[in-house]
Amino acid sequence: MVSCKNNNIILMGFMGVGKGSLARELLKLSNYMAIDTDDIIESMENTSIKKIFEKEGEAYFREAETKVSLWLEHSVKNTIISIGGGFYHVDNLKNIGHVIYLESSFDAIVDRIKSSKNPEKKFKKRPLLQDMAKAKALINERHPKYLTYADTVIQTAGKKSSLIAEEIMQLLEL
Ligand code: S3P
Repeated sequence: MVSCKNNNIILMGFMGVGKGSLARELLKLSNYMAIDTDDIIESMENTSIKKIFEKEGEAYFREAETKVSLWLEHSVKNTIISIGGGFYHVDNLKNIGHVIYLESSFDAIVDRIKSSKNPEKKFKKRPLLQDMAKAKALINERHPKYLTYADTVIQTAGKKSSLIAEEIMQLLEL
């Protein structure tokens, strides 16, 4: 394994790029556990991300992400961690683990969601994916930031999660 803090692998990238599916493929190939920061926040708050945004606002959600980031840094090891698309704002991302940026174009991400099992649900549950023009501007704004935080960049457009998982296993010598 390419050495990294706590032996964690962080899957970072824009909404809908396939972090969850990839984490499940990596689980099949490795001895790691897998967790998702959105799932943790939904458990903490006992409600959906959508409702947290509606009732408490985005700033509240970002604070919850910061809380989770501190727990990840100090308590989590040997784990594949899928982070929400905006989670990179936390101060300690690099202390949590090896950051893999799953890079894709906006159009490829939208195609991926549209050809998935329940596209409507996937769009609906993401408050920042309601207005396509705004979402496109957001990915363009974030792309350079993702690059800054990435230890490894992987092109994902048009690739199956199983193939990306194999690529990661080889690259990180897992
Ligand atoms: C967000 C991405 C979402 C979720 C929230 C905000 C973002 O996670 O954390 O809706 O700011 O990009 P996914 O990237 O898993 O969709």
